[in-house]
Amino acid sequence: MFKQCYSFGDVLLSPLKSDIESRSEINIGSKIRDLKFSLPVISSPMDTVTESSMSTAMHQAGGLGIIHRYNTIEEQAALIHDACMEGMYNVGAAVGVSGDYLTRAMSALDHGANILCVDIAHGHHSLMERAIKSLKDKIGINNVCIIAGNVATPEGYYDLSEWGADAVRVGIGGGSICSTRIQTGHGVPTFQSVLACSYIDVNTPIIADGGIKNAGDVVKSLAAGADFVMLGSMLAGTEEAPGQVFEASDNKRYKIYRGMASKEAQQAWRGQSSSLEGISTTIPYKGSVENILAELAQNVRSGFSYSGARNISELRSKANFIVQTGAGQFESGTHILNVK
Ligand code: XMP
Repeated sequence: MFKQCYSFGDVLLSPLKSDIESRSEINIGSKIRDLKFSLPVISSPMDTVTESSMSTAMHQAGGLGIIHRYNTIEEQAALIHDACMEGMYNVGAAVGVSGDYLTRAMSALDHGANILCVDIAHGHHSLMERAIKSLKDKIGINNVCIIAGNVATPEGYYDLSEWGADAVRVGIGGGSICSTRIQTGHGVPTFQSVLACSYIDVNTPIIADGGIKNAGDVVKSLAAGADFVMLGSMLAGTEEAPGQVFEASDNKRYKIYRGMASKEAQQAWRGQSSSLEGISTTIPYKGSVENILAELAQNVRSGFSYSGARNISELRSKANFIVQTGAGQFESGTHILNVK
């Protein structure tokens, strides 16, 4: 009756024979329609993750930033325009599925965005269908790239693809600042969702979103069927993430990282809060995101080499996942005994 579902920490990739002599032989690039990215990483449309600076840094690193929608249409337009050289950047902008979303979408495109992200918590929804179809009708099927989500099931992934999404965000309730599973009892481990969606006979790129904590989780996501990962906490706390750095009583520097359904975020963008499904927290200040992304890319390439894979499709076809016991999970973390 109950289906066993696996999280990132439950699984490992068993190493395979490799003939890769240098990590430079490995191409971790990916694409959405005809848009190519050398780094399969997208920054979350959250107000403590992606505004102009993050979007620019993501572009420069070969990935994509999606400017959040928790602002006025004019504010979002200014964030898109700021540093965005027309026609030279891939810039994503988030929109909702009701109210002024069509106006917001047109404004975002007018100001330089070439990718729209229809961004709602429960994306397998009739409002999502209406939004994707209306956007495609209004803008023209081939004139805009639409990322849509989030979904947790193969049925959701299939439907959003059928409705016209060019890429689908997969993962509900797994994010580091999410409390959806606690508050609603709903969700699926992100790794399991991605794996299940990968078996559907649809070519729409999958974006694994929520709960990705390190390069190993990125490699597991790509091996399980994702074409990209979306990152919140791994990019939050950097110089390029919105918000001030502050020094706490422990003399260390921090920034705020918060879920968009947290009380603090809701109060900030709409002056009230309800249905709290996220938290706000502090995160150590990490310096430039450029260094974090460079190190991430190197570690992901190392991961590919352990599977003898030169690109994402080779990784996916070769991947040999194993399930760990609790003792295996303990052994997989650093676990040296503290010696004084
Ligand atoms: P990570 O683990 O990378 O997750 O920090 C980022 C993702 O979390 C989602 N998100 C939320 N989910 N309540 C939720 O349940 C929230 O308040 C919330 N805010 C963001 C989103 O998919 C993001 O990319």
